[in-house]
Amino acid sequence: CGIVGYVGFRQAVPLVLEALRRLEYRGYDSAGIAVHTDSGLAVLRAEGKLVNLLEKAYAAPVSGQVAIGHTRWATHGPPVERNAHPHTDDQKLCAVVHNGIIENYVELKEELKREGAQFSSDTDSEVIAHLLARERGSLLERALSVRRRLSGQFAVVAMDRRENGVLVAFRQGPPLVVGFGEGETLVASDPAAVVSLTRRCLHLEDGDVALLSPQGVQIFDATDRPVSRPEVVLDWDPGQVERGGYKHFMLKEIHEQPGACAQTLQVLVGERGFDLTPWGLPPELLRSLSSVHLVACGTSWHAALVGKFYLETLAGVPCRVDYASEFRYREPLVPPSSLVVGITQSGETADTLAAMRLAKDKQALVGSICNVRGAMAERLSEVKLPTSAGPEIGVASTKAFTSQLVALLVLALAWRRARGEADEALERRLFHLPYDLQQALHTDSSVEGVAGELQHARNALYLGRGVLYPIALEGALKLKEISYVHAEGYPAGEMKHGPIALLDEDFPVIGLCPAFELTEKTLSNLEEVRARKAPVYVVGDGEHPRLREIAQRLVPLPRLPWPLLPIVAVVPLQLLAYRVAVLRGCDVDQPRNLAKSVTVE
Ligand code: G6P
Repeated sequence: CGIVGYVGFRQAVPLVLEALRRLEYRGYDSAGIAVHTDSGLAVLRAEGKLVNLLEKAYAAPVSGQVAIGHTRWATHGPPVERNAHPHTDDQKLCAVVHNGIIENYVELKEELKREGAQFSSDTDSEVIAHLLARERGSLLERALSVRRRLSGQFAVVAMDRRENGVLVAFRQGPPLVVGFGEGETLVASDPAAVVSLTRRCLHLEDGDVALLSPQGVQIFDATDRPVSRPEVVLDWDPGQVERGGYKHFMLKEIHEQPGACAQTLQVLVGERGFDLTPWGLPPELLRSLSSVHLVACGTSWHAALVGKFYLETLAGVPCRVDYASEFRYREPLVPPSSLVVGITQSGETADTLAAMRLAKDKQALVGSICNVRGAMAERLSEVKLPTSAGPEIGVASTKAFTSQLVALLVLALAWRRARGEADEALERRLFHLPYDLQQALHTDSSVEGVAGELQHARNALYLGRGVLYPIALEGALKLKEISYVHAEGYPAGEMKHGPIALLDEDFPVIGLCPAFELTEKTLSNLEEVRARKAPVYVVGDGEHPRLREIAQRLVPLPRLPWPLLPIVAVVPLQLLAYRVAVLRGCDVDQPRNLAKSVTVE
């Protein structure tokens, strides 16, 4: 879910609605807003996308300088108006917006009902409003005590009819970031909402309770002691959270990849060269490490799979890859002197953070590859490798993914250099990657032809070998995420052990077959596909004569050193998923049931 709170001197409603618009990718089942008005708390809620709330809000404007807002991704209770946030107690003394899950809400609800509270939603969140309304003391004192009664994961922003000019915010799990303007303060679940007001912000920590006023913020930690949290300056600007001239954020972000990768490279390597000392990995430390473990979810996990090739082949260091949600619930063997890296665009994915904490408990050196400065993944890490892709709004990750691949490649090259075997040719070649990505964007016209033929498909199989196998997985994920076509990625060599049984004229196969050491092997697999009459589309070596014969359509890839192939080859697959989704009339930036950042388990 996305949550926002504003306290300041401006009309709060348009400001909070605008911030919600920037957060809509966090959830879009329903939305709502509560405003402190002269006659009490005014609450406005609407089912479905934010636009429904906007219509209501513009039809009946309310004025006030303090407001909270929410855009919901349903966990408890169906996405109907009565379950939309903000929730209030039955006296409408307090209004709250909540992101997360209150695990003990059934007990709390029973207790509150016995005391006479009347509930009007099916959500776990409503108990927070009732609890806050019933406690004694100031809003801050009540928040300090209510926080202790809740178990589970929560980020909460609340207001009280009896105390104008302040908000409280508290968290345990999901993120909250506080932004400072001049005489105004904003709190939100995501820096993308803050950046329209200011770049100066701080991240609240688990257990923190914050009192927000136009003058700033007072914070109390889990033991109620006043604390200060370090200020972070976001490396984003407000223009980056706009669609520009593009029809969708996803298309804009696909096109931003040359710049995102150039910036990531510039920040990580710059003039200094392949030496990661500023990020906490000096050469002598790299030499002392025995293995790497990469943990991540979703698209970031695919980046980890490519990273394994980079680290093992280029740096000669053993590397294991895990889904964070699996790693955290087994007893993973993390040998002493290993580096465990969480790869996460948002830096707030609950499973990835839990896996990193587990690694910390096991005394590993913990690192992150993260796109949000000061996010929890960075705060948990001793080694912080930044990606600098700028804010990613489209739910389907694109530029964050290719930037993660760049960071992993830089890590491998720096490691190799630390071992005294620098690959200077590849180091130099990497700086041409933005140009290669620019060229890859030109595949859009040939991709359109493939999309036209795939738009009515019900299934698709993506095949790749070696370092292109994770890209087959990523291509399939992109297609299913945004166009709802069932798709699978498979190692081309494994196809004959199962998926081949599925193939017929109606089962398109997309083969990844650039010029690399496994071209001929992949080609043989594609011949096997062809023999079963399945349509074959190839993203591959444009100069290979046989590929042109096999492929119904060929999207040409240039000849590149193998480590750059996955970064470039994914671009036409992103474009393909995008084009198919558009042809099928799907909502590209807000695909059903998904959320950009999953801060609950
Ligand atoms: C969600 C998003 C994916 C993303 C994954 C991991 O599922 O829809 O696009 O890859 O979370 O997110 P992270 O922020 O940890 O990279």
